[in-house]
Amino acid sequence: MKILIVGSGGREHALAWKAAQSPLASEVLVAPGNAGTAREPKIRNCPVEATDIAALIATARREQVDLTIVGPEAPLVAGIVDRFLEEGLPCLGPTAAAARLEGSKSFAKEFLTRHGIPTARHATFTDLAAATRYLKDHPGAHVVKADGLASGKGVVVADDEKAALEAATAMLNGAFGEAGRRIVIEERLTGVEASFIVLADGLDYVAFPTSEDHKRRDDGDRGPNTGGMGAFSPASAVDAPLEVVIRHEIIEPTLRGLKADGHHYRGFLYAGLMLTANGPKVLEFNCRFGDPETQPIMMRLRSDLVALTHAAAHGRLAGATLEIDLRPALCVVLAAPGYPAAPRLGDVIEGLDTADFQTKVFHAGTREDKGQVRSSGGRVLGVTSLGATLEEAREHVYRRLGTIALDGALYRRDIGRRPYGTRP
Ligand code: AMP
Ligand code: GLY
Repeated sequence: MKILIVGSGGREHALAWKAAQSPLASEVLVAPGNAGTAREPKIRNCPVEATDIAALIATARREQVDLTIVGPEAPLVAGIVDRFLEEGLPCLGPTAAAARLEGSKSFAKEFLTRHGIPTARHATFTDLAAATRYLKDHPGAHVVKADGLASGKGVVVADDEKAALEAATAMLNGAFGEAGRRIVIEERLTGVEASFIVLADGLDYVAFPTSEDHKRRDDGDRGPNTGGMGAFSPASAVDAPLEVVIRHEIIEPTLRGLKADGHHYRGFLYAGLMLTANGPKVLEFNCRFGDPETQPIMMRLRSDLVALTHAAAHGRLAGATLEIDLRPALCVVLAAPGYPAAPRLGDVIEGLDTADFQTKVFHAGTREDKGQVRSSGGRVLGVTSLGATLEEAREHVYRRLGTIALDGALYRRDIGRRPYGTRP
């Protein structure tokens, strides 16, 4: 089978790397890919942007691709799956209508509320006066969210009414463009976060191992929110009984609700959860795999990713199970100086060719330039490792990071070391 992976980040490198290991895969194409995917055996980059749906369709036809797997949210929300299916080309991911679970926070909240799935209390606004009144009437800490896609940056966790009002004002006044013309204000939850990702075929699903990411840029969970500075699996605070609760109270009602609403949800579904004293609650849905959660999860996955995704795309997941490496895995993201606001790009990265069988260096924002690898995005690399313990995986990763040189690069030193890793 020929597989096409759409995207160019660390998530796509990890998915392509895993797919290429499948005996079912003759070749894995990545559009557009990065310097890391370009160097992998059995993998080839195609110079097509992830949002150029017409060119992706042409590539899938010309290359006689058997299955396309979409990495990032933008093409999903733009309807890539609808367009591929209209052309009779198998493509794994939700339709544009179902991808609104990620594409519109107000849609997701309305969906959760209507189907009785636990989530923070909320209200939706397009009008500043009404938002101001709501904040006055509901004292306490709030989170203000731009309705549309904002690359993980459209969420402000506010400590008090003043900060919430500032965020609401900025968003409604266009700080996030159209994405913020509508906002969701919700109650601020406390607890420990976890990511729960499943692969669904419209009816059945398999659950990947749990994971946890670090969204803030700096050590101690300080600094600006980012796409994710590191992740590990399993999550620190999800034991087997809690996993059953998450499946029964969140994942299954979500898939049933989607079906009842007329959506045939095929693809990855990511529930971002807050584990609170009153049980797990949904913070957000993503209609795709997480980045960087994919990197540690793919290292732990022993099952054949091509067999799984092919089964999901054809509605044949029933009875499928996952074989998972019991060892934990951890990924630390190396980012360009200035990330996330204004990353400096174009610098040479040294030390990538060091032989190290204990770690895998997944590329994200990299490109090949006359035999050299240079940075081309805010998140540049994701160094990932398995270990007998999380601590051992950490040691492997940080040792390897010490051998990589990118001028001014930043990475967190405390990935996998949350002092608050127990749930309330
Ligand atoms: P989201 O994009 O909705 O997942 O929000 C990004 C991050 O903001 C989450 O990972 C949480 O750390 C935080 N967050 C979102 N919603 C809430 C909430 N209701 N209470 C506390 N923190 C939240
Ligand atoms: N790591 C969070 C995300 O992929 O949205």
